[in-house]
Amino acid sequence: MPSLNDIRSTFLDYFRRNGHEVVASSPLVPRNDPTLMFTNSGMVQFKNVFTGVEHRDYSRATTAQKCVRAGGKHNDLDNVGYTARHHTFFEMLGNFSFGDYFKEGAIPFAWELLTKDFGIPKDKLLVTVYHTDDEAANIWKKVAGLPDERIIRIPTSDNFWQMGPTGPCGPCTEIFFDHGEHIAGGPPGSPDEDGDRFIEIWNLVFMQNEQFEDGSMTDLKAQSIDTGMGLERIGALLQGKHDNYDTDLMRSLIEASAHATDSDPDGPGKTHHRVIADHLRSTSFLIADGVMPSNDGRGYVLRRIMRRAMRHAHQLGVDEPVMYKLVPALVRQMGEAYPELGQAQPLIEETLKLEETRFRQTLARGLRLLDDELGKIASGAPLPGEAAFKLYDTYGFPLDLTQDALREMGRSVDVGGFDAAMAEQKAKARASWAGSGETKDATIWFDIAEDTGATEFLGYDTEQAEGAVLALVVDGDKVGEATKGQSVQVVLNQTPFYAESGGQVGDAGVLRTDTGRAEITDTKKVQGVFIHFAEVTEGKITTGQGAELVVDHARRGAIRANHSATHLLNEALRRTLGDHIAQRGSLNAPDRLRFDFSHGKALSAEEIAQVEREVNALIRQNGAVTTRIMAPDEARELGAQALFGEKYGDEVRVVSMGALDGSGKGTDGKTYSIELCGGTHVGRLGEIGTFALTSETASSAGVRRIEALTGEAAMAELRGRDSVLSRIEGVLKAHGAEAVDRVQALLDERRALSNEVAQLRRELAMGGGGAAGPEAKEINGVKLIAQVLSGVSGKDLPALIDEMKSRVGSGAVLLIADTGGKAAVAAGVTEDMTGRVSAVEMVRAAVPVLGGKGGGGRADMAQGGGADAGKADEAIAAVEAMIGG
Ligand code: ALA
Repeated sequence: MPSLNDIRSTFLDYFRRNGHEVVASSPLVPRNDPTLMFTNSGMVQFKNVFTGVEHRDYSRATTAQKCVRAGGKHNDLDNVGYTARHHTFFEMLGNFSFGDYFKEGAIPFAWELLTKDFGIPKDKLLVTVYHTDDEAANIWKKVAGLPDERIIRIPTSDNFWQMGPTGPCGPCTEIFFDHGEHIAGGPPGSPDEDGDRFIEIWNLVFMQNEQFEDGSMTDLKAQSIDTGMGLERIGALLQGKHDNYDTDLMRSLIEASAHATDSDPDGPGKTHHRVIADHLRSTSFLIADGVMPSNDGRGYVLRRIMRRAMRHAHQLGVDEPVMYKLVPALVRQMGEAYPELGQAQPLIEETLKLEETRFRQTLARGLRLLDDELGKIASGAPLPGEAAFKLYDTYGFPLDLTQDALREMGRSVDVGGFDAAMAEQKAKARASWAGSGETKDATIWFDIAEDTGATEFLGYDTEQAEGAVLALVVDGDKVGEATKGQSVQVVLNQTPFYAESGGQVGDAGVLRTDTGRAEITDTKKVQGVFIHFAEVTEGKITTGQGAELVVDHARRGAIRANHSATHLLNEALRRTLGDHIAQRGSLNAPDRLRFDFSHGKALSAEEIAQVEREVNALIRQNGAVTTRIMAPDEARELGAQALFGEKYGDEVRVVSMGALDGSGKGTDGKTYSIELCGGTHVGRLGEIGTFALTSETASSAGVRRIEALTGEAAMAELRGRDSVLSRIEGVLKAHGAEAVDRVQALLDERRALSNEVAQLRRELAMGGGGAAGPEAKEINGVKLIAQVLSGVSGKDLPALIDEMKSRVGSGAVLLIADTGGKAAVAAGVTEDMTGRVSAVEMVRAAVPVLGGKGGGGRADMAQGGGADAGKADEAIAAVEAMIGG
C-alpha cells in the first residue's frame, strides 16, 4: 500500500518524466497576492505567469503545494473533525502548463497517471465538463473511451474555476471516483450529488480568461493549464479508505495525539483526535511560514485554529499542554518533503506550548461560565451574544471556538448579539480615547485603525510583497486618490515595510499600482496601522487598488547590519565594563548606529579597542541570528536584555546571536547576545562585514554615547582615516611607527627650543649676551637693583628675581616687566635684609604708581601688577623713596 509520501513522489516523478519542472511549494502567506489570506491552491504562485506579467524559464511545472483553507472565502474550519474530507491544511498536487500544452495534453496526462501509474480501474472513473466544452468532451471520449453518460456536462460555476473575484480563470473538467452502489449518493449534477458515493479527485482547469474587478473578462494571451488534486483524497482512495483521516499520514498523527493524551484513538474522543491532527498540521506549517498568533488578521486565524485544537485536547481530560508534544511526529511524517518544518521545529514547539499554557489559564473558567450561562436559558435556545462576547473578551474564546463547543450539544450562538456587543465595546474605547485630547491628525489614524484593523507586517521574511491600498491621507484628510506631485500617506492591509520603532528607522522604497507609482520615504506606525509616507511620482494611486511594494534593499540591508551590530555592541560593553550597562536609547539608521548607555565615566582607549575587537570577532564567527517568540517571563529567565521601562505585550520576540564557544552555533546558555527586539536583523553575523567605533562621548549625566559604522560605511571611514595618515606620513617622510617617533621627536625638540628661547630672552633682558648688567644703588644702607624689562612675562619674574638676588649678594631687587603696555612687578629681598625692608612693601609702593591695586607675597619675594608700564621709572622712584624712609 503506497504511503502518502510515496503517492506525492509518484505524482511529481510522473510529471518530471513528462518534461515538467518540479517546483517547491510556495509559502502559505502569498507574496504576490494582496487579496488572499492564505495560499489555497497550487496555482497561486503562478498567478502572474498565467496572466503573462511574470516569466519563468520553464513552460511546464509540477508542485505539491501547501494549502490552508480557514478564514476568508474558502473556510473549512467549522467542519474539520466531523467529516471525512474537510481539512484546514492539505496538500494540492498539480501540473501546470504556461502556454505549452492545453486540453489535448492535460487530459491524457491525467488519465495515464490515474489508470496506469496509480492503477485505478477505468470503470470506476467518470468526469464532468463545462456544458459548452465539446472539445474537452471529445478528448475524453477519444483518450479514455468514456461513454457519454460518464462525461457529464455541468452548466454551473462548479465547472468554471476562478481563484477569486479577479485573476486568471477558465472552464474545468473534474474527475470523479465511484465508490460503488453500497454508498449513498448520486453522480455530479444530480440532486443527491452531495452523498459520498461519487468523490471528486482531480480538477483540470483550462486557463483561458482573466476576470477584472469591473466584471469584464478578456482572453489570456496564452492558453494554459492548472490542475489540482488533494493528496489526502487520492491517498485515501489508493489506500482503500473512505475517510482521509484513515490514511497512513493522518493516522500516525491521530495515534500520536492518542498516545500523548493517553486515550483511545477510536474511542469516544475520536473527533477530538481528528481535530488535533488536522490543526497540528495547519498551525505548524503556518508558524514555519512566519505567522504568529495575534489578535488580528492571519495571526488571529492561527490563534483560532490553535485554541480550537487546544479545547479539544482539554476535552480529552489532560491537564498539561499537549500540542507541542506532537510536533516531532509531524516532522517525522512531513519534514522530508517540507524541510522548513524541521528548521522551524523549536519555534513551532515553543509557540504552541506558550499559547496552550496561556490559554489553559482561562479555559476551564471559560467553560464553567459557558455551562452557567447555558443553565440560565431554555434548553436548545441559542447562547446570548453577550455571553459569547464575554467568553471572547475575558477568556480568549474566539467565536468559532464557542460555536464548536456548542455544536457538540446541538446548540448555537446568537451571532448578531455577539457582533453588537463587540461594536459597543469598540465605541466605548473610541469615546474614552477621543476624550484624551489627541490632535486631529491622530484622530484620523484612530478612525482608520478601526476601519482597517492593524497592518500585517511581512517584512521579517520578505522585502517585496503586494498589498491592497485601504486608505490614503493627504494633508490630514482621507482621500480617494492621490496624483502625481502629491505627498500622501498610504495604508495597506499588509506590507514588507518596517515602521520606525525600537530605534530602527522606518523603511523606504517604491509602491506601484496599475495606474501610478510613488516613492516611499519613511514608514511609521500608529495604533498598529503602518503609515507609508510617499510622494506620487507617476500617474495616480487609488484606494482599493492592489499595490506592489518594494523595500529599498540596500538601505534595509545597511539598517539590518547596524541593528545587529548594536546588539553585539550592547553585549560587548556589558562584558567589558560590567553588568551596570543598560541601554538608554539607540538609533539604527542606514548610514550609522548610535547607542546610549548608563556608565559613569569616559571609556579608556583600551576599553574602546576591546569593545571594537570583540564585536568584530563575533562578526567573523558568522553565527546565525535566530528569532523566537515567547512570554516575557520566559525571555527574562533566558537572560534576555530588555529595555528598562518599556512595556511588553503578552508575547515578545527574542533575538539571539553569536556563540561563546567560538563554533558559530548559538545554543541555549551559550549564546552571546539575547535581547527582546522587534527589529529586523541579518541572517548571519558575517553580513555586518566590519564594525568601526567612531566616537565615544558624554550624552547626559551618567550616560555615554557611542557612534559606530558597519559594512561599507565602516570601510569608507577606515579608508578615510588611512588617507589622512598617508598624508601625514608624506609630510613627515616617515612611515607607520616611525612617523609617531618623528612627531614625538618634533614635539620634544619644540619644547627644548621654546625653553631655550625663554632663557635667551631672560638673559637678554638682564643684560646678558654682551649687555652690561644694571648697577646696584645703596639707599639707607640697603643695596637695591631696580630694572625695567621688556620681552619677558610676569611668570618669568620670580626666576629672574632669584638670579638677581644672588648677584646682589645682600640687598633688594625690583623688576618691572613691560608686557605690551601693562606692567608686572616683582620684588625680592635677600634673607639677611628682610628685617630692614620687606618685598611686600616694595611691591605695594610700586603698584599704585603703575595704576594697579594690591600685590603681595612674602617678605623675601612678592608680586603685583598695574595697567601702565609707562610709569615704571616713577614706580622705581617711589620704591627708592619708601626704602629711603
Ligand atoms: N486551481 C484549481 C483548484 O484549486 C485546480 O481546484
